[in-house]
Order: sequence, then C-alpha cells, then structure tokens
Amino acid sequence: MVDAGTVVKEIQEMRDGGFLADAILRKAVRSISVADDRYDWVGVYLVGKDEELWLHNYVGEPTEHAKIPIGTGVCGRAVAERTNLNIADVSKEENYLACSPDTQAELVILIRAGEEIYGQIDIDSDQLAAFNEEDEIALISIADKLAEQLAAERR
Ligand code: SME
Repeated sequence: MVDAGTVVKEIQEMRDGGFLADAILRKAVRSISVADDRYDWVGVYLVGKDEELWLHNYVGEPTEHAKIPIGTGVCGRAVAERTNLNIADVSKEENYLACSPDTQAELVILIRAGEEIYGQIDIDSDQLAAFNEEDEIALISIADKLAEQLAAERR
C-alpha cells in the first residue's frame, strides 16, 4: 500500500519549492513504484492534443504504448468514460493493450480537477486481482494533488 499522506506531502513540498509538474510527476511515479511489491509497472499518461494519451514517465519494463488513443485500451477507456478502472484480470478485457505478458491486473486512476481530465496514474501488477479499494483511495488522493499542479500550470 502506498502511503498517500507521505506522497501528497512530498508533492506539496516540491510545489512550495517551485518545481514544475514535470519533476513532480516523475517523483510521484517513483514514490508510488517503490511503495508496494504489487506495483510492477507504474506510469503517468497525460492527455495531449488530438485525443491521445502520451506516456509522460514510468518505472518498469519498457512499453510500446507511448501513445494511446482516447477510447483505446484500458487507459483510453478510462478517459473516454471519465472513470477510474480497477481491472482484476486483464485477460478478460476485450479492449486491452498488453504492456507485458506477465501483467495480470491493472489500475487506472484519473488525474482530474472538476471537469478537466489531465491524465492518469496507470499501475500494472503481475498478481491477479492485485488492487483493492484502499489502493484506489490512496491513489485518488495522490492524483488529485498532481491535478492541482497541472491546473496551476494550465492557467
Ligand atoms: N494496458 C494498458 C496499456 C498501457 S500499458 O499497461 C503500460 C491499456 O490497456 O490501455
């Protein structure tokens, strides 16, 4: 389990220190990835122009999915449906883009502020049904904190 309070504090300290979203997103991905053995691949995708998600940064095996059209895959579907997705068994998903053959479960938490969706935290696990509600709650608070910085830079 990632300790959301610690990561949110780290993010606020970086914001206070004048760091931009680029550095903050990289730090958050690293902090999440070391927090729990179930988190085998952790990345942030950002919504770009042209209805696409762009991989901003990640920890884990390289992926060929640096760009994902909105609506495609679990990542793109989360944005299209404006919802977080906790997929217990990716082999049962029709609209799924494989990153690693070892991945069994995937969690996508949107980085959003109000109506605006800036991107998402994407986590893959090699364990079936790896993610529970506590993971979701912790990652939502981290994602909301990241959205504060992205919103501030959008102004
Ligand atoms: N599995 C995702 C693609 C991203 S990789 O897991 C890094 C999807 O179906 O959208």
